[in-house]
Amino acid sequence: MITKYTCGKPIATEAVTVSFPSNDISGFPFENSLNDGKFTFAFKMEPKDIVYGLGESPRGINKRGWVYESYCSDDPFHTETKQSLYAAHNFILLSGSRQFGIFIDFPARVSWDIGYTIQDVSEITIDGADFDIYVISADKPLEIIREFRKAIGKSYIPPKWAFGYQQSRWSYHNAEAVDAVIDGYNNADIPLDCVYLDIDYMDSYKDFTINDKAFPNFDEYVKEKQAQGIHLIPIIDAGVKKEDGYCVYEEGKANGFFCKKADGENFEAGVWPGVCCFPDFLNADVRRWFGEKYKTLTDLGIDGFWNDMNEPALFYSVEGIEKALDKAADLKGKNLDLSGFFNLKDTFMGLSNAQEDYARIYHNINGEAVNHQRVHNLYGANMTKAAGEYFEREFGKGKILMFSRASYIGAHRSSGIWFGDNHSWWSHILLNLKMLPAANMCGFLYCGADLGGFNENSTRDLVLRFLALGVFTPLMRNHSALGTRDQEGYRFENPEDFRDIIQVRYRLIPYLYDTFVRAAENDGLIFRPLSLDYPDDPIARECETQLMLGDECMIAPVYEQNVSGRTVYLPEDMLFVKLSGERVDKYPLSKGLHYIEVALNEVPLFIKKGKQVPLCRPATRTRDIDREKLEYISNI
Ligand code: GLC
Repeated sequence: MITKYTCGKPIATEAVTVSFPSNDISGFPFENSLNDGKFTFAFKMEPKDIVYGLGESPRGINKRGWVYESYCSDDPFHTETKQSLYAAHNFILLSGSRQFGIFIDFPARVSWDIGYTIQDVSEITIDGADFDIYVISADKPLEIIREFRKAIGKSYIPPKWAFGYQQSRWSYHNAEAVDAVIDGYNNADIPLDCVYLDIDYMDSYKDFTINDKAFPNFDEYVKEKQAQGIHLIPIIDAGVKKEDGYCVYEEGKANGFFCKKADGENFEAGVWPGVCCFPDFLNADVRRWFGEKYKTLTDLGIDGFWNDMNEPALFYSVEGIEKALDKAADLKGKNLDLSGFFNLKDTFMGLSNAQEDYARIYHNINGEAVNHQRVHNLYGANMTKAAGEYFEREFGKGKILMFSRASYIGAHRSSGIWFGDNHSWWSHILLNLKMLPAANMCGFLYCGADLGGFNENSTRDLVLRFLALGVFTPLMRNHSALGTRDQEGYRFENPEDFRDIIQVRYRLIPYLYDTFVRAAENDGLIFRPLSLDYPDDPIARECETQLMLGDECMIAPVYEQNVSGRTVYLPEDMLFVKLSGERVDKYPLSKGLHYIEVALNEVPLFIKKGKQVPLCRPATRTRDIDREKLEYISNI
C-alpha cells in the first residue's frame, strides 16, 4: 500500500506515474517538524534493522552509519567520506523489526542522516516545504520495492546489442585510433560490440558537430563500423558552446531556450569548450528542440549516446572567474602569507560547481521563473528525457542506447545510468557491486561502472577482476580518463585471459538479457542483497560483498589484489561454477563459509538448487549469438 502526503505546492517532477490521493502532511506517521522552511522527520532503528536504498550513492548496501545528501554532484573522488554522487535517488527501505519504504519526491537537497548523529536514529531533512512523500508498506521488503517500482513506471530496456562488451576511453581522438581499438580486439579474438567517442570527436567540443579532420566522411565511417558489427557511441554534454554562428547556440539564443539569470540574460559558465549556455531542460519546448538535435547523429546511423556533465557540471561561471582573476591581479607582486595564499587557492578551487553560481540560474517552468536551487536534481534527468522522448517518438521504445551521468527517479523510464568517474582502485569493485541493487530499487536497471576504473592508472589484474564483476552488469564498459595508462583488454600481456572473461559475458547474454527483461517487466530487481532473500540468516543479512542475481544465481567477485581467491558465504547449498572462455568447472558446495580459488581468467558464479543457467556458444559480436544453441549449467 502506498500513502502519499503532500506539503505545500510541490514542483511536478514526473517521477511517479500513478496518481495517488494526497493526504495532508499533518497526518504523516513519523515524528516531524517544519522549521525555517525545512521539513525534518525521524525514525528509530533497532540494532538489526537494515536501511537500503538511495540508489547511486557512496558507501554500503546497508546505508546505516553515515549521512548522505541527494544533490547531483560532479565529483570524481568517490571516497567513503562523500555524501553524494551524480544522482538523487530518494528512496529508502527499512527492513528488520518493521518494514516500510519512503520516497521523497522533491527536486532539491535532501539530507539523510541514517544513524550518523545518533546511531539508532534516522533523521531526514528536506530543504524546502513543497514536496510529496510516499510511504510504502507491504508484508515483505521485496513487495515494498515492487509497489514503489509500479508507482514510478517501467524501466528502460536498451537494444540487445547494448549487452555486448563496450570499450571507451577519453579519448579515441580520430578514426585511426578507433580502428586500432577494433583491430586490437579483433586480433586478440576478444569480443566487442561498441566503441565510445568521447568529447574529442566533436568540433571544438560543440554538441552535435563532428571534427571532420579527425573523422572525415563520418557517415560512411559509421556505416563501415556497423558492417563490422561495431556501434559507435558519442557523448553529448549539457553545456552548449557560446559561439556566434554555431547553430545550436544561435537557435537556443533566438528562442530563449537557455537558462537565464535574474536579469533575464543567459546564464554562462565554462565547461569543455569554454563559455557555454545551458539548455533549459525543465521546459518542454526546450526538451523537444534539444531532443530533435540528436537527429543530426541518428541520421548518420548513430544508435547510442551517453549524456554527460548534466548535474550540471560548471568549471566556472563568467562572474566567478572574473572575480578570481581580479583578486589574483590585485595580489601580484605581494608577499602571500598563509592566509593570503590559501585564500587565493580556495578562490580558484571553489570556482567549480559553486553554490552561488547554481543560485544564479533560473528556469522557465510553464512560464514561471524558478530558481535552479529548487530543481537542481531534475536538470540531468530532463536532459535525458529530452533525448529519450525524441528517440521514442522517432524510433519506438528501446531502439537507441541511452544512458546518463546525472539522474533523478523517473529518468529510469527513458535511460540507464553509469556510475561516473570512479578510480582504478580495488575498493571500487565493491563500490560498484553495492550500488547495483540500490540503483535497481530505484528503477535503474541498465547500469554499470567504468570497468578497470576511470581515474588514475589501472593494472592488468585490476582490469581483469573488475571485468569479472562487469560480466554480470547490464552495461559492461571499460572506460578510462585522459592521460591514464591504456587499459583495453588487448594492451596487456596474455590477452587471452581477457578473452576468457569477456567470452563468458557473451555466453551468458541470453540469460542476462532475459533476466533483465523479466526484471523490467515485473518491476523486479536483477541484483539483490543476500539479506532480502535470506532474511533470517544472520550472516546473509550482513553480507556486503556478494549479490543474488536473477532467480538462479549468486555472484561473489574477487576484489583484492595479490590473492588467489576469496571467502564466500553460501546461504544454502549451491553449485559453484568457474567460467573461463569455453571452460565450465563445477563444484557442489554446501551451505556455509568457503574459501574459493579463482584465477584471473575465471568468473565465479553460484547456482542455486533446482536452478539452471543457459550458456550460448561463444560469439565475438552480439549479432552472432545463436539463441537456439544453448547448453545448460544445471543444479537440478
Ligand atoms: C566526464 C565523464 C567522463 C568523460 C569525461 C570527458 O568526466 O564522466 O566519463 O570521459 O567527462 O568527456
